[in-house]
Amino acid sequence: MPAALSDAALQVSAEQAAFFHREGYLTLNALTTPDELAWLREVYDRLFREQVGRKEGAHLDLAGTDEDGQQAALPQIMNPARFVPELEHTQYRKNALAVARQLFGPSARYRGEHMIYKPPYHGAATPWHQDQAYHHPGFVYRQVNVWMPLQEATVENGCMQYVPRSHAGFGILPHHHIGHDPRIHGLEVDAPERCFERAVACPVPAGGAALHHSYLLHYAGPNRSPVPRRAYILTFALEPEPRAVPLEMPWQQESKTARQQREKAFREQAESKA
Ligand code: NI
Repeated sequence: MPAALSDAALQVSAEQAAFFHREGYLTLNALTTPDELAWLREVYDRLFREQVGRKEGAHLDLAGTDEDGQQAALPQIMNPARFVPELEHTQYRKNALAVARQLFGPSARYRGEHMIYKPPYHGAATPWHQDQAYHHPGFVYRQVNVWMPLQEATVENGCMQYVPRSHAGFGILPHHHIGHDPRIHGLEVDAPERCFERAVACPVPAGGAALHHSYLLHYAGPNRSPVPRRAYILTFALEPEPRAVPLEMPWQQESKTARQQREKAFREQAESKA
């Protein structure tokens, strides 16, 4: 079970909030307690060991072709609270929501969550991208991703890296599926290397967090360490606003992943039983 909740939710200073809006990211040292962190690690390791959510399309390989029975390069579980409802009642979630509301105001709401696992030595890089590349092209999002590692996150094991201020303007750069393979779920931005020269690496302690605006260019390196790199991400946002003219995002139509097929088969089976 998650540790008992503390009444006090985390406060960020006006300077920290201003830094987030100007630079597009922010790091925090503690969003949870050591007891809760230990419980989260147990839950997390079980979810990945058992590939929970595989048939529902919730477990996938972000950086590979994701056929059943092959070793995943970058395993991910979408919406883990669907499988472990206790995750809805953590100190982490309470603190992350409080921070999101300090950044975006009281109407910021929980929008989703996922877990990304980088196995020791062979966990693949998460390529440079903007989260908006996965979102609906018809809306403007004001969204923060709270990325909490369950062990210390370092450059060696794949901490978050950001291009400061790249969220300004709320535009979207062209993206493609990793390796230009539409079977692969993960997206990569089409941009020359020089765009990333200003990148800042954000190591954070276990239970701390790196926060980013959903239009910010971000990346996480491969895991070159002997330790698993566990990240648990919560997303909070204001109500998306319709765009006058939808963005062009052709990579979304190209997508042909095994995850989509599993999800479709699961849904059809559930409907046929209903
Ligand atoms: Ni992302």
